[in-house]
Amino acid sequence: MAETNRRWLLAARPQGMIKDSDFRLVEEPVPEPGPGEFLVRQTHLSFDPTQRGWIAYDTYLPAVKIGDVVRAGGVGQVVKSNNPAFKVGQMVQGGFGWQDYMVTAGQTEFMPVTPLFPGMSPEQALGVFGITGLTAWFGLTDVGKPVAGETVLVSGAAGATGSVVIQIAKALGCKTIGIAGGPEKCKWVTGVAGADACIDYKSENVAARIKELAPKGVNVVFENVGGEILEAALMNLALRARVVLCGGISGYNEANPAESAGIRPYMNLTVTRSRMEGFIILDYATRYGEGVQALAKLISEGKLKTAEDVQHGFENIPTTLRRLFEGKNFGKQLLKICDPPLPVV
Ligand SMILES: NC(=O)c1ccc[n+]([C@@H]2O[C@H](COP(=O)([O-])OP(=O)(O)OC[C@H]3O[C@@H](n4cnc5c(N)ncnc54)[C@H](OP(=O)(O)O)[C@@H]3O)[C@@H](O)[C@H]2O)c1
Repeated sequence: MAETNRRWLLAARPQGMIKDSDFRLVEEPVPEPGPGEFLVRQTHLSFDPTQRGWIAYDTYLPAVKIGDVVRAGGVGQVVKSNNPAFKVGQMVQGGFGWQDYMVTAGQTEFMPVTPLFPGMSPEQALGVFGITGLTAWFGLTDVGKPVAGETVLVSGAAGATGSVVIQIAKALGCKTIGIAGGPEKCKWVTGVAGADACIDYKSENVAARIKELAPKGVNVVFENVGGEILEAALMNLALRARVVLCGGISGYNEANPAESAGIRPYMNLTVTRSRMEGFIILDYATRYGEGVQALAKLISEGKLKTAEDVQHGFENIPTTLRRLFEGKNFGKQLLKICDPPLPVV
């Protein structure tokens, strides 16, 4: 086991693309758990676009303070415990942040610590059965409410969330159109995720291609990107369409999202009597079990394939977050810090 606790602290609020100098690496003694507490040795970290917001400004969570450890979800192993609910050797999931070790009594800043289900890998726990897969499941089924035969348009379609959305929509009997960056990603979206078509936004006219592929308009838009890609979708709505505002990564590097260019064709929502609705997955916490079961069923039926992009090395943590904004990740972005140091119970 590491003898010190390496921690990446927030050194500066990022301006534009995140830089190495926005973070500071420190080494501290490994903390000791007090009464009712346990010590987690983190093994895997999740990378999520929302972290760019967390370190820059207040969102649905208060901004990380300068000098604090960077907020992140992760998986780890309980290595010392004074809490009977958490046994030494158990694999657990929680908001452990960019650090090797964390002492907790069971509630981290933005989520409780929960044991991994038996047989679930850390990659699955942080990916398809974690925030990512659950966002896809509840965002599509609860907010988008697609029905068989409808057309579902998904941006960020080769990403962690988007690729799961495509496959859920397919399993529900919908026609699916993905939007992704580059021929390799588009090939994966149609060939592996099974979309009926994929638009390469880097080389094609997105609005014109949506019109060709869905001449009667799209019924559900699952929006991960925002900006001009959202505008292209809004220009192609069917009557009574549902636009699910999951995310808008194209604007996350802007200094102040409130001053973004705005959405030009928004009146098409009125013309088509459509609805645009945002959601935050944390609001579905009491229904996570239901979502995990539904996703596990799709996997067991061979209807859901996942891709994970696992980077390595604690020193590479800031670079790995940047990958999301450079489009370098393929599927769920993770980083493996180490193997569990103790036998897993
Ligand atoms: N509402 C919620 O509760 C919730 C929960 C989880 C995630 N989200 C949102 O869901 C979206 C996807 O998250 P994820 O974790 O699944 O990430 P992801 O899609 O796996 O990774 C991000 C992808 O975004 C694309 N991208 C980056 N910058 C872009 C730009 N300027 N224009 C167009 N595309 C760009 C890149 O794909 P290309 O190579 O194809 O460009 C990149 O691979 C994000 O907007 C995130 O904030 C929301």
